[in-house]
This record gives sequence, C-alpha cells and structure tokens, in this order.
Amino acid sequence: MDHFTLKDGVLHAEDVPLPLIAEAVGTPVYVYSRATLERHARVFREALGNVPDKLIAFAVKANPNLAVLKVLQGQGLGADVVSVGEMRRALAAGIAPEKIVFSGVGKTAAEMRAALEAGIGQFNIESEEEGAELAAIAAGMGLTAQCALRVNPDVDAGTHDKISTGKADNKFGVPISAAGQIFATLARLPGIHLRGVAVHIGSQLNDLAPLETAFGKLGALVTALRGAGHAITHVDLGGGLGVPYRRGEQLPQPAEYGAMVARVTKDWGARLIFEPGRVIAGNAGVLLTRVIRVKRGIRDPFVIVDAAMNDLARPALYGAYHHFEAVAPRGGKMVANIVGPICETGDTFAMGRECDALDAGDLAVFRTAGAYGATMASSYNSRGFVAEVLVDGDRFAVVADRIEAGAIMAAERVPEWLG
Ligand code: LLP
Repeated sequence: MDHFTLKDGVLHAEDVPLPLIAEAVGTPVYVYSRATLERHARVFREALGNVPDKLIAFAVKANPNLAVLKVLQGQGLGADVVSVGEMRRALAAGIAPEKIVFSGVGKTAAEMRAALEAGIGQFNIESEEEGAELAAIAAGMGLTAQCALRVNPDVDAGTHDKISTGKADNKFGVPISAAGQIFATLARLPGIHLRGVAVHIGSQLNDLAPLETAFGKLGALVTALRGAGHAITHVDLGGGLGVPYRRGEQLPQPAEYGAMVARVTKDWGARLIFEPGRVIAGNAGVLLTRVIRVKRGIRDPFVIVDAAMNDLARPALYGAYHHFEAVAPRGGKMVANIVGPICETGDTFAMGRECDALDAGDLAVFRTAGAYGATMASSYNSRGFVAEVLVDGDRFAVVADRIEAGAIMAAERVPEWLG
C-alpha cells in the first residue's frame, strides 16, 4: 500500500497535489512519500516479528537520498552499503556504525580502511582474496574487522538475468562447495573475526521458493561450520523481495516471507541480518513528468515526456515495466508509445501501452520509482540530474536539487594546449 492516491480527480502524494510540486520544482522530479517509507519499514519489521534477534539494514543502493535514509533511520533501520560513498551517506543520516554492513565484490583497500575507521558492524567478505587483504589491513591498524563470508548457493532466483546474483557463474560470494575450506583458512587470520555467513541471490524475486532453497543450503552450511568448531553467531539473508509494478500483480507478501524465514531459521540460534531495498522504497516514490508533445505514429502515437532513460534507466536496462498514468485523468484512454527525448531508441518506457489519454502539457507519473530510480540516473545527452522531493502530510521539501547540465560542464576543463 502506498500514499499516492487520486483526490478530487488529481493525483496526490499524501496530502500534496502533484501539480503543486511540478509548479514549484519543475519536471521531471522524483517524489517520495514519508508515510509510505515508514509504513513499508514497519510492515517489514512486523513480518519478521517471530525472528527474535535481527538487524534490518536498508540496501542504500535502492535509494541513497539523505532524507530518505533519515526517515528509515528514524524507523530503526541500519544500512547495507556497497561503497564508501554509501557508507558516508548512512553515517550522515545518523545510522549507527554498528548497524552498517558492507557488501560488494570490489571493496578497495581505501574503502576497507575508511570502514574500519568508522567502526562499521560487519564486512560481508566476497572472496578468499578479499578476506586476506582485509585481515592484513585491519591487523596493520591494530583493529579486528567483524566479518561474514558471503556464499554463492548456486540457486536460480528466477528473476531478470542482470539482477540475479546467486548462480554459480555470477561474480558474487564464494562457491558454497568451497565455503567450508575458505572459512577455515580465513578464520585463522589475525585482524578479522569471521563470525557468520551471508547470502543474496537476486532482486525483484516473485517467488519465495528459490529463497527458501538458498536459506536451506545456508542452514546446512551453518551446521557444518559449527561441526568444524566455528562459532556462527550472525547470518545475513540479503534482500530480494519483489514488489508489484503492475496493477493487480500478486507477489509474496512480507508476512509470507517472514513466516518462511522464521520456519527455516528457527533452530539456527544466530542473529539474522536482512538487507531489503526495493520492498521498502519501490512503491514509496514516483517519477513526475510532463508531456512535451504527442507525435503521430504509423500505428500508435508517441507520447514524448520530459523524463528519459537517464532519469529512470530500468525500462531501457531491463525492459522493466513501470505503471504510467495521468496526474489529472480525464476519463479517456489511449494506446501509445511512451518515450523520452533522448536520441536513442532505447529511450522508450513502453510500446503499445494502454494509458490515460494525454496531451501536450499534461502531467503524468511513472509509479514504483522510489527504488533504483534517481540513484541510477546519469547525465546522458547533457540533461543534468533530476531533482527529488519528499512529501510529509501536507508539506514537501526538495531533498535533492536538480543539477543542471551547466553545473556538470563547469566541472570540465579544456587544457591550455588545446589552444
Ligand atoms: N543486498 C545485496 C548484497 C544486494 O546486492 C542487493 C541488491 C540488495 C541487498 C537489495 O536487494 P532488493 O531488496 O532491493 O531486491 N538495479 C536493479 C536492482 C539491482 C539490485 C542489486 N542488489 C533494478 O533496478 O532492478
């Protein structure tokens, strides 16, 4: 459930009519709802009510906006980060260092040092090589890094190939078959305290079965590791829960996920870490856009909006579906190709889509844009970076300024020797 609803025929974010935001901030603009973010955090936590000892660490990559992180910090969430940039954001939002988990296959030595200095809660080590490097760096600093070993369970998550992470040929984690031996090797090193295991098999999962399979394999590994004399106190189950992008789409509910987790992990006796991203932020945001013009097509008309693939990359990257609707629907429908102004055919949000009838100047939204939206923006075609707004009841604030193309150009230099 979200707080983007039609009131008196006009789409509102909570109590703010979207045309008011378009007027004040311009378009395209991402609009987030605080009440929706808080509701999703609460629903996820309540779904895990039967898990006694847990940390819910929001996957910052899904929406790293500082104000969004501040809202989630207020809900008691920690942060799953994959770069020092994300770590600094989490800290700036007031998230306690011990609630920060650092994942990612390519942590640099500088990032390891910065995270050790900050005193983060856990490093999820993704290879034997990385573990050895982290151990040496931490030992050199006279510190001990708290760590879990990320394993690759070789489970097909059944999602888009580009967002699957748990198949044997993906770059993530160590093969589960080698995990026992790698764990033993790393556990001996000074500088790290290897206390657990981690898994994340992919994103936008529309079925709990692959997750349950992966968690079952992880449980067996925990038993084997304990059998070999290792104390396993932390298990990180990653993120991945899908959200509905289409109207009426049925996906596993957080409560079903929570029940499955409680059942599978009931005898583990370990602190569980969760890294939800999309399920918290996805439906808490829309991308508000204005129709530039409607162009006749051979078959369907092209609705050319002022948002483009640089602002919302998911359709171009993954062929992703984002529901598209008018802010002030007039009742009529049309079948249209919805495209942005960028000069490539990939800048297409939908082909042959039935949607609200729209004319030049009308406002519309792409739904479910709160996760992996603004964060994946680029400045392609010198379009600058889109602005972001947070709504709270009947008030709103710009939480990320629009970065105009000129500001990006100002950071470029023409060397003197070019004349
Ligand atoms: N933990 C780890 C280690 C991850 O790699 C990810 C996402 C998450 C947690 C959060 O997953 P979530 O709960 O949001 O599914 N750009 C793509 C999604 C990439 C996800 C990458 N990893 C998209 O727009 O669909």
